[in-house]
Amino acid sequence: MTVPPRFATPAGGTPTPAMLDAFQRDGFLVLEQFVTPDACDELRERALTLMRSPAATEHATIFSTTSDDHRADRYFMESGDQIRFFFEDGAFADDGTLRFEPEECLNKIGHAQHDLDRVFESFSYNPDLAKLAVGLGWQDPALVQSMYILKPPRIGGEVHLHQDATFLHTDPDTCLGFWFALEDATEANGCLWFLPGAHKGPLRERNVRTGELTTEQWNLSSAPWPNVEPVSVEAKKGTLVVFHGYAPHYSGPNQSDRSRHAYTLHAVDQAAQWLDSNWIRRRSDLPFRSLLTHRPEAG
Ligand code: FE2
Repeated sequence: MTVPPRFATPAGGTPTPAMLDAFQRDGFLVLEQFVTPDACDELRERALTLMRSPAATEHATIFSTTSDDHRADRYFMESGDQIRFFFEDGAFADDGTLRFEPEECLNKIGHAQHDLDRVFESFSYNPDLAKLAVGLGWQDPALVQSMYILKPPRIGGEVHLHQDATFLHTDPDTCLGFWFALEDATEANGCLWFLPGAHKGPLRERNVRTGELTTEQWNLSSAPWPNVEPVSVEAKKGTLVVFHGYAPHYSGPNQSDRSRHAYTLHAVDQAAQWLDSNWIRRRSDLPFRSLLTHRPEAG
């Protein structure tokens, strides 16, 4: 298989048997026009507003003017219930200012904008997404993490082969990823690549929180990746790629002069047990919310 199957988004979100087959066989499913171009543009505009806010710049200054790694670690490790801004290497001038506009040097925004920002919330808690997850076998999916990923032109780096369940643990494992193309994603600007069917193998690594500011990567299996040809998933704006937490995937660098904005959400099944080994922590007044039952207020 060199071109993965892609489907028109099912009316109402419930996957057809052919879609369920593709997801179970390949570990991922490509649904075109899952969201409208206007919805993509609205999220992108909101992200631009956030990244031009003082909060983004304040922390840019911290990173560029301190050699204290603990502050950087804390900024990341405490981002599970915040909206925080993570820059590409080389984003800063010597005086601590950004060398380019934020959208040209940010790596991502994370990890709780789906619960803290109205625009992100209404995009994320989408009833069709709930029906899709249930149709794929998740009983009570809750959204645990969001990332707005910029992969800026020329400096957007590659993301090496990994399984997302490495970073999000339940017993049993139930991590499910949603990746929305907010702009056209191509091989040139760093689209996703998958190893079809490789989600049927074991989870290779577990990223475990070991302290207030520390994690360790534990080896769970030394099984080699299966010898299958990676497939690129070029995706038009508005496409959703939904994938199993064990599905190995990567993305190349952005070597083009076009940005490749994407939005990702991760769900876990609340029917399974959330584990304390997760790096993500939530303050008590911001619990995870069910994709099935949480409905953003209108307006
Ligand atoms: Fe990933």
